[in-house]
Amino acid sequence: MSAKPPILLAGNWKMNHGPKAAREFLQKLELPEKENAQARLYVPTLSLTSALAATLEHSLPLQVGAQNVHHEKSGAFTGEISGPMLSEIGINQVLIGHSERRQFFGETNESVLLKTKSALEQGFEVLLCIGELLSEREASKTEPVLREQLIRVLENQECKAHFGGRLHLAYEPVWAIGTGVVATPEQAQSAHAYVRSLLITALGQQKAQDTRILYGGSVTPTNFKELLSCPGIDGGLVGGASLKPESFRALWDLI
Ligand code: PGA
Repeated sequence: MSAKPPILLAGNWKMNHGPKAAREFLQKLELPEKENAQARLYVPTLSLTSALAATLEHSLPLQVGAQNVHHEKSGAFTGEISGPMLSEIGINQVLIGHSERRQFFGETNESVLLKTKSALEQGFEVLLCIGELLSEREASKTEPVLREQLIRVLENQECKAHFGGRLHLAYEPVWAIGTGVVATPEQAQSAHAYVRSLLITALGQQKAQDTRILYGGSVTPTNFKELLSCPGIDGGLVGGASLKPESFRALWDLI
């Protein structure tokens, strides 16, 4: 069995930090290299070019990614961005299926499959987000919901081949996102173990182990260490606490 994949600290800036703020953030960020860890920021589309340039300019060990991509390569889709456009500016990382995309922009498990398939085909590395609503947790439906969110991708031959390579997952309970209510280590660990069991069944032990499952939802420098110490949590997808260079660095220092 190969070594564990590196821990991933991924920031999700959401609709924060335009090109200027992105440049300033990266100018201030000091990020020493780490052997078994990777850092990444998913930034607004308009800030991708400036974030990428600043990352190179300051030689930061950091990947820059987009928060969304359309499944078609071009066409009459006003307001959308395509894979070839991202590739053209040097972006090869994309976040897909974030709960805010599902909640506010009508993304469904079906459209998430289309996007994931298309992005993988075009050579992107995809971080696919899943997670249950509070009402679903309270109705003891967490596991069926996670299964439903994953099953199409797990059954799709083209996607299947990329798990553990260019396809990784983020478990983000929706009730923990931006609320300050973080999942307990037990809740997070049990959801991660369930997701891993789905991966093992569909892909076998090796690919399941090679697939990173990040935890997201109110991660801060105060709770990150404890979450990371849980078996099966391979990193964090962080919103609020990724917006300041000091707290992003503090998270990095905990790995
Ligand atoms: P949060 O957001 O850390 O602000 O809760 C996480 C996310 O939405 O990815």
